[in-house]
Amino acid sequence: MDQPEEESIVAPASRPDDAQWDVNLRPQRLKDYVGQRQIKDNLNIFLEAAKKRKQPLEHVLLHGAPGLGKTTLAHILAREMGSQIRVTSGPAIERAGDLAAILSNLENGDILFIDEIHRLNRAVEEVLYPAMEDFQLDIVLGKGPSARTVRLDLPHFTLVGATTRMSLLSSPLRDRFGAAYRLEFYEPDELEEIIRRSADILQAQLESSAADIIASRARRTPRVANRLLKRVRDFAEVKSDGKITKPLAEEALTQLHIDELGLDRTDRRILQYIIDKFQGGPVGLNTIAAGVAEDMDTIEDVYEPFLLQIGFLSRTPRGRTATPAAYRHLGYPAVGTPVNQTLDL
Ligand SMILES: Nc1ncnc2c1ncn2[C@@H]1O[C@H](COP(=O)(O)OP(=O)(O)OP(=O)(O)O)[C@@H](O)[C@H]1O
Ligand SMILES: [Mg+2]
Repeated sequence: MDQPEEESIVAPASRPDDAQWDVNLRPQRLKDYVGQRQIKDNLNIFLEAAKKRKQPLEHVLLHGAPGLGKTTLAHILAREMGSQIRVTSGPAIERAGDLAAILSNLENGDILFIDEIHRLNRAVEEVLYPAMEDFQLDIVLGKGPSARTVRLDLPHFTLVGATTRMSLLSSPLRDRFGAAYRLEFYEPDELEEIIRRSADILQAQLESSAADIIASRARRTPRVANRLLKRVRDFAEVKSDGKITKPLAEEALTQLHIDELGLDRTDRRILQYIIDKFQGGPVGLNTIAAGVAEDMDTIEDVYEPFLLQIGFLSRTPRGRTATPAAYRHLGYPAVGTPVNQTLDL
């Protein structure tokens, strides 16, 4: 039987049982942060310059698919600067007053981390603009005709914003960041390094050929790599002496219905639906969501980025199409490319 929990094991979005796990395995310093070389090189200079000037960092925006290391990087920035970090998120700040309270409690040099920053509402964003630009907070006192605005000075803080959906960020907000970094999907050898590092922290015995297998099925995403490692370790402990060997890793991943590219049953259902019912598409996201009984946002945030990344899905103005590579992977005849897809390209 399909179990929803098993379905989402490779979904890179954070799940409640990841929270503790994320904290334990999170690298603390920039030198321990694997991959993302260009971002690290830039950040090293950025950090050094700020420290030399004895000034807070400029506001930084981090964007990229779920589980690639945005939150980790925000904490690293705070640690490297020796700053305190205050963590909140777009949906958690409901009213302008909530943000005003947070801002006025910050101290010089503090980092304010706003996760899912694309989900801030307009009224809250309006408060953020002068705060980011001039370290000023406008407060309206009183109501009606006698209302007046007073400006308060704020400490020089650094805003670190994170988003999985850069396109949903308003441009005035985007423009107020001094730097924006886009996190990329990881290479297999980088994931292997992350897996080996995590296995050390967990004191799990891991054969290097097993690390290779886990890395190759981790959707190029550290969170998924760590989650698969955890599942495989549990499996090894139950089925044998705990040592994670290649055959054990393969068996565990097969039991979890994760194929050699890291696709799970939902990924395959999405592709099969497009191919079987729409001759490969294009088909609208809402139709796909209804067809595979998944939330539209979940498909767009969680499944689609990786399918696009590996070239199994393409996005066209008229909807999503399954590519010839997807046909091949799922074992459909190569001639599957339908006429309407050709027109669309
Ligand atoms: N570069 C990295 N090196 C080592 N481990 C990493 C790296 N990036 C991420 N991780 C691991 O992956 C986990 C998930 O990363 P993180 O929570 O920072 O992702 P995120 O981008 O904030 O995801 P979300 O969009 O869901 O908030 C972390 O707990 C950490 O253990
Ligand atoms: Mg995060």
